[in-house]
Amino acid sequence: MTLSRDCGVIIVAAGKGERMGGKMPKQFRLLVGEPVFSWSLQFFLSHDAVTEIALVVPPDLVEKTEHTLRQKASHCLPVMVVAGGTRRQDSVGNGLSALSAKSSLVAVHDAARPFPPLNFSEVCAEARSYGAAIFGLPVTETIKQVDDSGIVVASPDRSRLWVAQTPQVFQRELLASALALCNERGIEVTDDAAAVALLGRPVKMVEGSRWNIKLTVPDDWLLAECIGSQLRRDRPAFLPSRSKSEGVPEQ
Ligand code: CTP
Ligand code: MG
Repeated sequence: MTLSRDCGVIIVAAGKGERMGGKMPKQFRLLVGEPVFSWSLQFFLSHDAVTEIALVVPPDLVEKTEHTLRQKASHCLPVMVVAGGTRRQDSVGNGLSALSAKSSLVAVHDAARPFPPLNFSEVCAEARSYGAAIFGLPVTETIKQVDDSGIVVASPDRSRLWVAQTPQVFQRELLASALALCNERGIEVTDDAAAVALLGRPVKMVEGSRWNIKLTVPDDWLLAECIGSQLRRDRPAFLPSRSKSEGVPEQ
């Protein structure tokens, strides 16, 4: 696989974390000694495909985040701290505006996912060919659809169902058009691939990692602490391997 450094990264960290609760939004809480957002930031900072990073945070935390980043070791890549918006897609839009023209690809990643899959180059390569590519996992459990009273009404065939994850990678212009279309039509989406699908453009699915969990509710912390501790032991700086063939963490 040829290596191109052409991918700007938007890490969205401007949510309120209402389902998680607590005093501080989940992405700023410490996970094995590091703020949650810092895990994915480190991952992308050390990846060969990445040009620059926009870290999107709540407007009142921009200065504090900039200060925290300045105190850490200097980065080899530009990191811009950007104010987020009301909806996730507004935060993505603000991040996109901060990226420079040198990023012809853009990866969008949830800060609430501290352990991005190590085969990130693969999703970038697919995005270069298809325009859009996302990480996901095939559904392994039986899915039920229920009605308003909780009665099971259907058991959809799971063989074609996948759970969507981030990072999701797009050709820059495609992501910009998709976000513009959502704004024009007043549509709210929970991920950027759904916005691209509204344009009728293909989105390629790439198998991600089971470790790429999203911290959403309090019970998710225990699993994240276990994964984080394991990665600290195996891979002290949680750096993606550059020379060896890439793959998901051993599980
Ligand atoms: N996010 C964001 N801007 C928003 C809303 C969400 O940057 N206006 C980010 C979150 O910080 C998170 C990611 O989008 O990293 C995925 O969103 P989610 O897991 O839903 O986080 P929250 O919106 O913070 O949580 P909740 O929905 O429980 O309030
Ligand atoms: Mg949310």
